[in-house]
Amino acid sequence: MGVELIIARYAHLLVVSLIFIRSCEGGLTSSYVRKNGLSSDMPLDSDVFRLPPGYNAPQQVHITQGDREGRGVIVSWITPDEEGSTSVLYWAENSQIKKTEWGSVVRYKYYNYSSGYIHHCTINNLEYDTKYYYVVGSGNVAREFWFVTPPQPGPDVPYTFGLIGDLGQTFDSNRTVTHYELNPVKGQAILYVGDLSYADSYPLHDNTRWDTWGRFVERNVAYQPWIWTAGNHEIDFVPEIGETIPFKPFMHRFLTPYKASKSTSPLWYSIKRASAYIIVLSSYSAYGKYTPQYKWFTNELPKVNRTETPWLIVLMHSPMYSSYIHHYMEGETMRVMYEEWLVQYKVDVVFAGHVHAYERSERISNIEYNVVNGLCTPINDESAPVYITIGDGGNQEGLVTDMTQPQPRYSAYREASFGHGIFDIKNRTHAYFGWHRNQDGFAVEGDSLWFLNRYWKTKEEKYSV
Ligand SMILES: [Fe+2]
Repeated sequence: MGVELIIARYAHLLVVSLIFIRSCEGGLTSSYVRKNGLSSDMPLDSDVFRLPPGYNAPQQVHITQGDREGRGVIVSWITPDEEGSTSVLYWAENSQIKKTEWGSVVRYKYYNYSSGYIHHCTINNLEYDTKYYYVVGSGNVAREFWFVTPPQPGPDVPYTFGLIGDLGQTFDSNRTVTHYELNPVKGQAILYVGDLSYADSYPLHDNTRWDTWGRFVERNVAYQPWIWTAGNHEIDFVPEIGETIPFKPFMHRFLTPYKASKSTSPLWYSIKRASAYIIVLSSYSAYGKYTPQYKWFTNELPKVNRTETPWLIVLMHSPMYSSYIHHYMEGETMRVMYEEWLVQYKVDVVFAGHVHAYERSERISNIEYNVVNGLCTPINDESAPVYITIGDGGNQEGLVTDMTQPQPRYSAYREASFGHGIFDIKNRTHAYFGWHRNQDGFAVEGDSLWFLNRYWKTKEEKYSV
């Protein structure tokens, strides 16, 4: 058989093969993939862990949203030696009136560790969109900080969120925070997608590493709220040493305004902030049908008023879609339970961590499967959220570089590098997301996407009237 004849006879197979290869292609796997290697924790004498001077000086100062609408702030700090003052002195910029709010103190023991005096003070009824100064501690160890309250919730209120996850306390963690701080697009609050200190990676879950982490991040979280999501490194469940209360260190140190959204657990809750409605879920609490989290979540979604807060954002730790091999499919059972709700209520974006890399999905859903119909492949779905994995804060476990091959069609972009994200809401219809890898200049985006609001995109005609 001549060569020409062979080509003619099998040309259709070649075409089919090319189509098949084409159909298996996903999005882009960045060539910017780094070698896997552990990141070193910063040593205890690093400047980022420095103790504030003075006896019993407040340390580990951090704030988070304290109410449903953004007029409340929870101020937390730790005094190491004795209880000291539980009050926060605060005042609005350009105001001569100083007010005092009183907080409460908790302590906990964890195996052979005893915490300092953990102060939590909720300040309510603040003015929107106002800079406030606040002071914790008294006398010669008083420490002053400031924060800016968000604008009143409304459909066209611009607001800029930072995204950080799986931070830890390594040299790479420090680079991530520094890049976020020096990003010319200034984040106003951080959506934190879980795994904070990695104290549980030390022998006996050395809780002094919770303290060092608190001192490390204070330089940012004392000035802008971090919205907390719990990850697996917050569980701290070690019955072998008698520690049988899940999330004990996390829940003593970091409060959330869960009661304001009628949640029964600090681990899942919602807030409004400017033009965003943020729902935080717990990957490591029961989420099956009839569980408290399921009941709360499914009651919560119909309450979202997209005319008031157009941007519906969901945070969780374990991603529902990830094409990395590490932690592969760990979020699958929650996806099975909750994905149809995300699609039905047109969630704009789901941010998750856990996988120490970056990945952005196409708008896809996989909700048709019912065991017998075989429809088990994600398909394009304009009502579905974009799933963004951003567990690349830089903790001691290093990057995950092994990816499923070929890249699945639902995966739009993936890269194993440390970095942070910026979700920049412009108005009710448009938001811009940028992902910044630590190796680049502060303004450089390794990946980016314009978001068209899922609710308002179908109402543009109405909007233009
Ligand atoms: Fe994790």
